[in-house]
This record gives sequence, C-alpha cells and structure tokens, in this order.
Amino acid sequence: MKVRKNKQTFSNPVPKHWAGDEAFQSHILNVLSLMFPGGEGFFIRSVKQFKDQIDDPKLQEAIKGFIGQEMQHTMAHERFNESVQKNIADMGWFNWLFTVPTFEWLEPFARNSLGLHKLCLSITAAAENMTGGFAQSLFAPGQAEKILRDDVRDLYLWHAAEEMEHRDLAYDVFLKVGGNYPTRIAGLALAYGIISAYVAVGTTYLILTDKEFPWAKLPKQAWDLFTQENAIGRVFLEGMVDYLRTDFHPSQHPMHAGALAYLANLEKAAS
Ligand SMILES: [Fe+2]
Ligand SMILES: [Fe+2]
Repeated sequence: MKVRKNKQTFSNPVPKHWAGDEAFQSHILNVLSLMFPGGEGFFIRSVKQFKDQIDDPKLQEAIKGFIGQEMQHTMAHERFNESVQKNIADMGWFNWLFTVPTFEWLEPFARNSLGLHKLCLSITAAAENMTGGFAQSLFAPGQAEKILRDDVRDLYLWHAAEEMEHRDLAYDVFLKVGGNYPTRIAGLALAYGIISAYVAVGTTYLILTDKEFPWAKLPKQAWDLFTQENAIGRVFLEGMVDYLRTDFHPSQHPMHAGALAYLANLEKAAS
C-alpha cells in the first residue's frame, strides 16, 4: 500500500458552503474534517498497539501503509481546516471538546486502567467502515462534481481513494488478534454513536452561527441527506446495517473503478 502526499495548501480560504448548493452537507463535512486529525491519530494508535502480534509479513506491510496514509490525511486536513476556519465560526471549543475528553481522558483510562485495546481497535475498524462507505459514495457519478473547488475536490478524492484502499486493514488486524462479534458490535455502537453525536453538536453550531445559511432549504436538504442514494446520511445508516452482518468483511466492497483510475492518474502525473 502506497503512501501518497497531497500538496494542496488551500491558500485561498475555502468557502464555508463548498459542497455545491448543499450548505447543510458542507457544514457536516466541515465538522468531519475538524474531527479527522484527532480520529486518525486514534486509529493509528489502535492499530500500532497490535503491530507486534502480527506475524504475517503482508499484513505488517499493510499496517505501515495504513499508518503512513492516515498521517498524510491528518496533515492535509489540518491545512484544509485552517483555511475553512477563516470562513466559519471559531471552532476552537469544538476541537477541545472532541480531543481532550475523548483522547486525553477517556482513551488513556480505557487503555491503561481497563486494558480495552481490542475495543479501541474495534472502534477503529467500525469507523474505517464508515469512512470507506463515504469514500465509495464520493466516486459515484455526479458526487465529486458537487465540490466547487478543484483543490478541495482533489483533497477529498485522494483521501477517499486511500480510505478504500486500506478499508480492510483495521478489520483484518482485529480478526488476526482474535476479535469477536460482540466486541465488533460494541465498537460499531461506540464509533457510530460518538461520531454522530459530535457531528450533530458541531453542525448545529455551524448552522446557528452561519448568517448566510439558507434556512428555507434545510428541510429538503435534511430529507435528501438520509434518502438520496450516495448521500452521506443514507450511506452512514447503510454502512451501520451492513456491518451488523455476522459474515461481514470490508473486502465485500471492492475499490470503486473511479478510485483506481484516480490513483492511476496520480501515478502517471508523478512519473
Ligand atoms: Fe484517513
Ligand atoms: Fe482510514
């Protein structure tokens, strides 16, 4: 698994409503982007914890690729976040609320006092299922075109393609170290519950502080978000139901042809 760098600097501040006409979805994605650096750091720690127990050289290599890719995603989203932060309400309080109680209080307690490393890995595997689903939907016809700016589209296509590429990794490590179904489902409940709660709080704040928010469009945008094919809310729910299957494996969702083509183009451009 290759680690690729995204060089977008977003020096021209990213507008707050960058996802086409969909202000509501833009704010959800702005909040998710704020959560990526903290979340991806957690994913890396969760996988790293079990690295020494993996004797399969192929899986060891894939772990290295996964860690490298998530580190690059974090750096790119930090640049994006800094840029879009110029056009949205100050989210410093949200960054604190997401990272400090979760990763500075709860995670060390769960790991050091309760030894819940496998649960942390199962949260990671479930969250990777969520990002893998979002990624897949971005490559569906007409989706990426909704992103108004080339640099933002490039960031999301790159991130999405790599999310699909490493979709199996945390899940495979979880299985390799003896993760069972109840732990997997506990991870699902925690990942989807925690992420949706933070997204709800952050998005509500961004909407309430957005003087240009198109309130008249909100009911339709909210409805579409959970009903339209490839919309983020529907993908979230579908991914959750899919993950409940006892015979679930992320490889049942092969990489989208568009993602393969995107990565091949990156390769061509680099050579
Ligand atoms: Fe990522
Ligand atoms: Fe990921």
